[in-house]
Formats: sequence, C-alpha cells, structure tokens
Amino acid sequence: MKQVIIIILILIASTTVLCYCPKDKIHGIKKCSYRIECIETIKDIRLDNECTGAANFDIKIDVTLRNATDSFNLKADTDFLSMITTLRMFGNWPRTDLPFLDSMHRLRNVYLTYSNMQKINDSPFRNLINLESIDLSHNSLSEIEEIFQFDIRPFKMRKLSLAFNLIEEVPGYTFEALTSLQELDLSHNLIKELSEEPFCNLTNLVVLRLNNNNILYLNGAMNNLTNLQHLYLRHNQIENIDMESLKTINHLQTFDISNNKIEILQPIIFSRHWDHFDDGSIFRIILSENQIVLLHNATDFYDRFKKKLLKNEVQLITQLDLSKNSISHIEYNAFHSIGRLASLDLSNNKLLSFNVNSEDLMYVKYLNLSCNSLNSLYYESFSLMHNLQNLDLSHNLMDYFPDQSLSNTYRLKNLNVTYNYIEEIHNLRITFHSEGGVLDLSNNGLSTIYIPVDEALGLTELILSSNNISDAYLIRLADQRNLTKLDMSKNFIQELDESSLQLPNSIVCLDLSFNDIRVIGPSAFHRVNQLKTLRLSHNRIKSIEFGVFRGLTELLNLDLSYNEIELLDSKVFMDLKFLSVLSLRHNGLNFIDRDSWLTHKYNLKVYLDDNQLSCDWLAKALSDFNNGYSKMYPTVLVSTISGHSIEGIPCKQEVGFISDPQAKYMIDERLLITSQKILKAVQDQTSFLNKFVLRSYRHGADPDLVK
Ligand SMILES: *[C@@H]1O[C@H](CO)[C@@H](O)[C@H](O)[C@H]1NC(C)=O
Ligand SMILES: *[C@@H]1O[C@H](CO)[C@@H](O)[C@H](O)[C@H]1NC(C)=O
Ligand SMILES: *[C@@H]1O[C@H](CO)[C@@H](O)[C@H](O)[C@H]1NC(C)=O
Ligand SMILES: *[C@@H]1O[C@H](CO)[C@@H](O)[C@H](O)[C@H]1NC(C)=O
Ligand SMILES: *[C@@H]1O[C@H](CO)[C@@H](O)[C@H](O)[C@H]1NC(C)=O
Ligand SMILES: *[C@@H]1O[C@H](CO)[C@@H](O)[C@H](O)[C@H]1NC(C)=O
Ligand SMILES: *[C@@H]1O[C@H](CO)[C@@H](O)[C@H](O)[C@H]1NC(C)=O
Ligand SMILES: *[C@@H]1O[C@H](CO)[C@@H](O)[C@H](O)[C@H]1NC(C)=O
Repeated sequence: MKQVIIIILILIASTTVLCYCPKDKIHGIKKCSYRIECIETIKDIRLDNECTGAANFDIKIDVTLRNATDSFNLKADTDFLSMITTLRMFGNWPRTDLPFLDSMHRLRNVYLTYSNMQKINDSPFRNLINLESIDLSHNSLSEIEEIFQFDIRPFKMRKLSLAFNLIEEVPGYTFEALTSLQELDLSHNLIKELSEEPFCNLTNLVVLRLNNNNILYLNGAMNNLTNLQHLYLRHNQIENIDMESLKTINHLQTFDISNNKIEILQPIIFSRHWDHFDDGSIFRIILSENQIVLLHNATDFYDRFKKKLLKNEVQLITQLDLSKNSISHIEYNAFHSIGRLASLDLSNNKLLSFNVNSEDLMYVKYLNLSCNSLNSLYYESFSLMHNLQNLDLSHNLMDYFPDQSLSNTYRLKNLNVTYNYIEEIHNLRITFHSEGGVLDLSNNGLSTIYIPVDEALGLTELILSSNNISDAYLIRLADQRNLTKLDMSKNFIQELDESSLQLPNSIVCLDLSFNDIRVIGPSAFHRVNQLKTLRLSHNRIKSIEFGVFRGLTELLNLDLSYNEIELLDSKVFMDLKFLSVLSLRHNGLNFIDRDSWLTHKYNLKVYLDDNQLSCDWLAKALSDFNNGYSKMYPTVLVSTISGHSIEGIPCKQEVGFISDPQAKYMIDERLLITSQKILKAVQDQTSFLNKFVLRSYRHGADPDLVK
C-alpha cells in the first residue's frame, strides 16, 4: 500500500514538473544548426558552447512552439530568443501585437499560421532587419496596411504569404518597403479591387498569387512588376483582360487565368516580348474554365511578334490550355501570334470542326480535342504536324477513322479515339513513333478491322475493348508485325477456333476477358505462339478440351477466372512449360486432376478462390508442394477465415468426413494418416469422389477424361 502511494506521488510530481523544450525534441542537424520543439514557452535549452559564444558559425536555430500565449516571452529565456533564426508558432491570438518578435532580432523566417489572428496591431516586424520570409497564411486577417512597415528596409526579404485570410483591400503603401520581395501570395482572400500602388515598388517580384479572390478587373495593377514571371489569377471574376494590363502579361512565363469569366479573348495575349526570355523558355497560358466562344485571327500582331521568331533568333515553347470553354469556332489564323505552340488543349469545348493553319501547328506535340463534336478532321490542319506525339480525339462524333488526315504524322505515341462511332476500319495509313505507339479505339461500334501490310507501322498496342466484335475473325491484324498488346475485352465473341485469331505472332499480351466465349477449339492460339499473358476471365467457358492451348510454350500467365469450369485436367496445360500463374478463381471447380503438373519444372501458382474443391484434394496438393513433390502451389487472392479452409484456402468437407474446421493440425494429421479413423475417412472420401466424378462424366463431359 505504501509503495502504491509513493508511486502515485512520483507520478504527480513528474507531471507537474513541466519540461518546456524536452531534450528529446532538440535535434542537432549539423554544426550549430538545431531543430527544437517547445510547448508554452522557450527556455532551459543548452547548446554547444562554441555555438553560443561570439558567432564564428552560421548559427541556425529552428524553433517550433505550440500552446503558447502571445506573451510567452515574459517567461522565456530572452538571450536564447535572440538567437532564433526560424520560428514556427501555433496559438490562438485574435488580436495581438506579437510582442515576442521584439526580442528576436536574428529572425530570418517566421511562420505564424493557423493561429486565429484577426488583427495584428502596429508593425511588429519593424526592427527585424534579417527577415527573409514571413508566412501569415490560414488566419482571419482583414486589415494589413500597417503590418509590414519597417524602420530599416528589410533588404533580404524574399517571400511573403498572406494566403487564406479575409483580406478585402490592399491599401497603396502596404508592401512599400518590400522592394526585394520575390514571391507574394495573396491567394484565397476576398480581394475585389486591384490597383497599381500596392505593387509598384515590388520591382523584384517573380511570383504573384492572386488566385481564389473576387477580382473583377486587372486595372494594370502589375504594370510596374517588370520581373514578374508567374502570375496566378485562377478562380476570380475577371471578364476581360484590358489592354493596359498587357504590358506585364506579355513577358510572363506562367499566366494562369483559368476559371474566370472571360468571354472575349484578344489574340494579343498570346504574344510575348522576346526580350524577357532565354532560349528554350516555356510559356504556359492557362485559360481553361472560362466562357470563350470564339478564337479570332491573330494576323494583326503577326509582324510585331513573329519577326524574330521566324529569323530563329529565339526558340520558345508555348503551352496553351483552352479546355472547358464554349469555343465553337476557331478562325484559320487564330494561333498565328504564338511562338512555337507545342501543346494545345481544346478539350471540352463545342467544336464542330478544327480547321486551322497548319503552319502554326508545326511544333505541336500534344493536341487534345477530346469532348467536342467533331465528326471529321481536315487533312489541311494536320498536314504539317510532323511532331505530333499525343492526340486525344476521344468523346467526339467521328463515324470513320480519320487515318488519311493523319497520314503526315510520323511520331504518334498515343492516339486516343475512344468514345466515337466508328464501326469499321479498312485502312490505317499512319506511321507511329519509332519507339512504338498506342491506339485506343475502345468504346466504338467496331466489328470489323482490317489493316493491310505496311500500314499502322510501329503500332505496338491496340485497345479494342467495349466494341461490337462478335466474330474475332473479322479483326484481321496478321500483318501488324509490331503489335505486342491487343485488348479485345468487353465484346461479344462466343467461340474461338483455329482460324479465329487473325493476329501476328508478335503479340505477347492478349486480353479476351468479358466476352461470351463458351467454346474454344483445339489450336485456337496457334498463330499467337509467343503469348506471355492470356486473359480469358469473365466468359462462359464450361470445359477446356485437349489441345486448346497447343503451342503456347512461352505462356507465363493464364487467367481463366470467372468461368464455369467444374472439372479440369492438368493435361490440357501440357504445352505450357513456363506457366507460372494460373487463375481459376470463381469457377465452381469440383475437381482438378493434378497428375500432369507433377512434372512441371517451375513454380506454378494456382489461384483457387471460390471453388468447390474438397479439403482432401487441397490437403494433398499442399502437402505435395510442401514436400517438394510437386511445383504446383494452390493459393488464393483473399484468404478466408470462416468455413472450411486450409492455409486460408476454402475447401469443401465431404460427407463422411470428420469435421473440425478450426484445427489446422487436425487436417495435417489426416494428411499424415496417423489414425485409423482418419484413414478410413479418407478412403470413404476417395470412393465418394470416384463415384461423383464418374457420375458427372456420364452427364456429358469429355470421355477422354475418364481414364
Ligand atoms: C495544448 O492545449 C490544449 C488545450 O489547452 C491541450 O488539450 C493540449 O493537451 C495541449 N498540448 C500540449 C502538447 O500541451
Ligand atoms: C516606392 O516607390 C515610389 C515610386 O516609385 C518611391 O517614391 C518610394 O520611395 C518607394 N518606396 C520605398 C519605401 O522604397
Ligand atoms: C511605374 O514605373 C514607372 C517608370 O518605371 C514610373 O514612372 C511610375 O511612377 C511607376 N508607377 C507607380 C504607380 O509607381
Ligand atoms: C482569318 O484569316 C483567314 C486567312 O487569312 C481569312 O480567310 C479569314 O477571312 C479571316 N477571318 C476573319 C474573320 O477575318
Ligand atoms: C484530354 O482532355 C480530357 C478532358 O479535359 C482529359 O480527361 C484527358 O486526360 C486529356 N487527354 C490527354 C491525353 O491528356
Ligand atoms: C483514352 O481516353 C480515355 C478517356 O477519354 C481514357 O480513359 C483512356 O485511358 C485513354 N486511353 C489511353 C491509352 O490513354
Ligand atoms: C517495327 O518493326 C520493324 C520491322 O520489324 C522494326 O524495324 C521496328 O523497329 C519495329 N518498331 C517497333 C516500334 O517495334
Ligand atoms: C453490332 O453488330 C451487329 C451485327 O453484328 C449489328 O446488328 C448491331 O446493330 C451492332 N450494334 C451496334 C451497337 O453497333
């Protein structure tokens, strides 16, 4: 009893002696560089002597302080405060003077986020001449005009974030002293009006974030930001980009004005002042999610902006995103003023046609026309697109494959024509990239494809899933010597015989899952004898005849899951010498004759989830594998814990068998046949099985199996 009381007393004592900056939360990073975590206040910290004396070293002390009031400094170690270089603090100070900053004159970086600050009085940073960055994001600040006033200009100040506050107005002199600032984040506030004054001294600013505000007009606010390169205005209420504001816009690298209310676009915003860029600069102009209806000719600006480009004095790359607008018409020379358009996203618009000057599209590598209403492609527009690699035409109204329009492209890597209305293809005069190309034709109404020799050169992967293929013989690709992957899943194929697959033997991966295949004749796969993966899952196969997989000597993976196979003889897999994964999940299998697998040379995993195999069969198969007698390893994707199972593999306890599902060792015992009772049970079981097997053969199964 006494001891208990003593222990309780020790516990109480130890919880009341609070450690503000626990030793285990002080991490030396490198010489005189520390990361420290404190609670409530900052004190009792010992550092290496040589770091505390006259500073020969660049001392970096990064302190994170939690649960502190804003007057914690009264209890703190003031000498130590003056050494802190980075301060991260979280608290709850609706109105504050941030008095602790007074003692921290070495401070370089300060993060006062998520602290419910509504008002910061006066100018608490006034004396901090070493400041490099201030982060006041995620508070509720609305008035900011006094906060950034300084006695001596903080000439090292680079970064300021005021994101996620409630700022409506930015008064003229707010950032006056921050002339060295390079990044300013005002995103996620309530700013409506912009004017030039607050920004005009920020001549070194490179990144300005004003996204997610309520800005209506730009008002030339950024005109004195001669070094600005990245301007983010996403998610505002801007209807128009006024000519006055173009001064800055024309030297930006990133101009993101997506998700605004722009209806009319001046082509001049695509132009750039070359003087501001190095060779190879990339411009990104993001205009997605606006209300643009029409793209006008940009010929007026041709001379002014394109002269230098044509003389090849500068190499520029432009990426233009116009997706999610309402563009229904693009004038022929709409892209004329753009320097080297390399990426053009016009997806999710209302285009009925795409007829533009192909000279302006010569450098386009990526073109997205997905989700429009195109029913044809103009040869003209594509005739000079020799660099096109990625073309997305999905979700349009094409009822033929526009191969002729694309016949001048030689570098396609990815061509997506899914979700159109193509029913037949008889030519594919396209040359894919020398590294190979993928053509996605899924979700059309295709039932017939014939690609003659010397067409679709370089096509390595063809996706035909979700079409209207009912006769595989009508998919004639035998001359496609580069084709390695073919997906014909989700069609209506019912049977396969030896002439069905008119495919080249270069194919290594063939997907026939989700069809209606009931019957597969012998040698059905003899033309594709280099297959490594064959998917036949989700069909209606009831039995596998001998010779079906004849010649598939390279096959590694075979998926027969989700079929209706009840009986299986491993002899049907005899040619499959390298088979390493066989899925038989969800078939309702009663019995597998394993005899042929006894000579299989490599490990073969057989997935058996959701079948009706007897526990006896399973126990034998597992013990043969464990003893090294067989390489066939029964397993499951999802192991069961309920019902009868061995090693998580479900099995069926036959009539006459002793049942003790929990005890795995019981089954092992059965396996070892140590007790007479168990031996008898196994014998009963075997004769039952024989009877059962014979009976089901008599009901129309393959007589070859009864041997
Ligand atoms: C911080 O204060 C809150 C509420 O005052 C308390 O629930 C929490 O345990 C404290 N955290 C620490 C680390 O002391
Ligand atoms: C800000 O710029 C104005 C005009 O360019 C200049 O008169 C003023 O001195 C600058 N303010 C500071 C604090 O540098
Ligand atoms: C912008 O810069 C120009 C010259 O660089 C200067 O004349 C003008 O006063 C500045 N604007 C403001 C609002 O400071
Ligand atoms: C756009 O330019 C093309 C080619 O120069 C010209 O035929 C067409 O009339 C122009 N469209 C308008 C509206 O000016
Ligand atoms: C084309 O745009 C659509 C819709 O914006 C998008 O889902 C798709 O991923 C894009 N295609 C490519 C190849 O990037
Ligand atoms: C083709 O586009 C669809 C969506 O439009 C996408 O789901 C599919 O993955 C794309 N195909 C390829 C091969 O990228
Ligand atoms: C396509 O086949 C040709 C001829 O066999 C070969 O030269 C070329 O490299 C192959 N291309 C690809 C992408 O495999
Ligand atoms: C699919 O093809 C059959 C003929 O094989 C045709 O009768 C049917 O209309 C086609 N269905 C679709 C959706 O194209």
